[in-house]
Amino acid sequence: MTSTLERYQRIAPLYDLLDLPFEYGRYRRIRPLLFEGLSGHILDAGVGTGRNMPFYPRDMRVVGIDLSPAMLARAERRRALSAATVELRHMDVTRLDFPPASFDAAVATFLFCVLANDLQVPALRELRRVVRPRGSIRLLEYVRPRSRLRRLSIAVWQPWVAWAYGAGFDRNTEAHVSEAGLEILDARFVVDDLVQLLTVRVPG
Ligand SMILES: C[S@@+](CC[C@H](N)C(=O)[O-])C[C@H]1O[C@@H](n2cnc3c(N)ncnc32)[C@H](O)[C@@H]1O
Repeated sequence: MTSTLERYQRIAPLYDLLDLPFEYGRYRRIRPLLFEGLSGHILDAGVGTGRNMPFYPRDMRVVGIDLSPAMLARAERRRALSAATVELRHMDVTRLDFPPASFDAAVATFLFCVLANDLQVPALRELRRVVRPRGSIRLLEYVRPRSRLRRLSIAVWQPWVAWAYGAGFDRNTEAHVSEAGLEILDARFVVDDLVQLLTVRVPG
């Protein structure tokens, strides 16, 4: 079976091209919402090719981590587009090499729809550990849509998305948040009933 690492090593050279219609049709409009009201030292988990970078506010110091060196190499090229200071590290979100409370906040975009179900809680616990008490975690994720029509269209896309990205539309990240000891402050749809922005708080 192909691992997540192998998948992203394979798809990295094509990732931005394949994602282009979604990036410009959907994501660019919503990425800035992630950073509203955040400042200081921020973790971008699963930074990918660095698509969030143009939206990092100037006064942030961001550390982007990713499992795939090939995706990180693409992100490195995009670093110049960021107004913030950006450091990139090769790391697994379920085993972060940072001391507790290292960050003021963490963001992850389309990471949890890629992580297998049994990794969701361990990854959320790691984010909880490295973000300071009362800090924020923001997640932008695909969720299983309510409408039948969208579920049908997703069923058509699912085999390709699973093969290429290892992504699923059936992850229940919102439910795993409380299991990881985090508190949901806000959960709202930002693209139809497909993409959700979750704002979560670390207890403290
Ligand atoms: C769908 S891409 C999203 C990339 C980027 N956040 C974006 O918004 O375009 C998912 C990314 O998560 C990374 N990833 C998958 N599993 C990971 C893990 N366990 N730890 C860190 N990164 C991981 C992949 O290598 C890939 O770059």
